[in-house]
Amino acid sequence: MPSTNIPRIVTKFFEMPTNDKHLKNFDIEKLPWLTLDINYDYCEQLIELTKQIKPHTRYFTTSDYNKGLKVYDIYGPTDKETFRKLSLTHDTTEELNKLEYGFKCDTNDAVLKLFSLLPYKKVYEIYINTMDPGGYLYPHTDNRYGKFRSGIKDQTIIHLNNPEGYRFSLMEAGEIPKDIGRPVMLNTNRYMHSVMNPSTQTRYLVHIHGDVHCEEMEQLMLNSFYQR
Ligand SMILES: [Fe+2]
Repeated sequence: MPSTNIPRIVTKFFEMPTNDKHLKNFDIEKLPWLTLDINYDYCEQLIELTKQIKPHTRYFTTSDYNKGLKVYDIYGPTDKETFRKLSLTHDTTEELNKLEYGFKCDTNDAVLKLFSLLPYKKVYEIYINTMDPGGYLYPHTDNRYGKFRSGIKDQTIIHLNNPEGYRFSLMEAGEIPKDIGRPVMLNTNRYMHSVMNPSTQTRYLVHIHGDVHCEEMEQLMLNSFYQR
């Protein structure tokens, strides 16, 4: 492994004890993650597409507590400011569903297949986070949404690659599943988490946010949990 300058506060996070007690019950609020029983088969194509998109600045890409993080928008709201405001308050799914959304990049097969992969009632945002070699995120808890989208409802991630030595861990629960192309609903609002990439490869990770409150999505979550 190459020598890196990842801060001790980050490397120490990955040495903390973990347990699987919150993984045993189907509790949307308490589950640290839920691996969905579905697969995305266009990971390499999406990595290639990402290399051609210009990254966007977000508050978390310029923070002193993160290094080597870039964000590439795939899909999202036309009126970002209203979306942000609504996202930070409680019970606004109905209002969020009324906003206009669209693609932010050229659409190819890999993008369209990603958009229609999961049976969300409505997709709000899709973006790809990359982490450069030597990059990291300090331990932190996300504070994105209110009660209505809490727990694992907050986001689904998909690893497009998994460099050797790359770590993404949740407090208590430990290392998250990182199977390439396998969507994982992730509870980063409840669980403190940290990420580091001491490898020599860039890490590519899809993030999807949306409204999960529909029969098909709920069924997928339940089936995925009980068929493990
Ligand atoms: Fe986070």
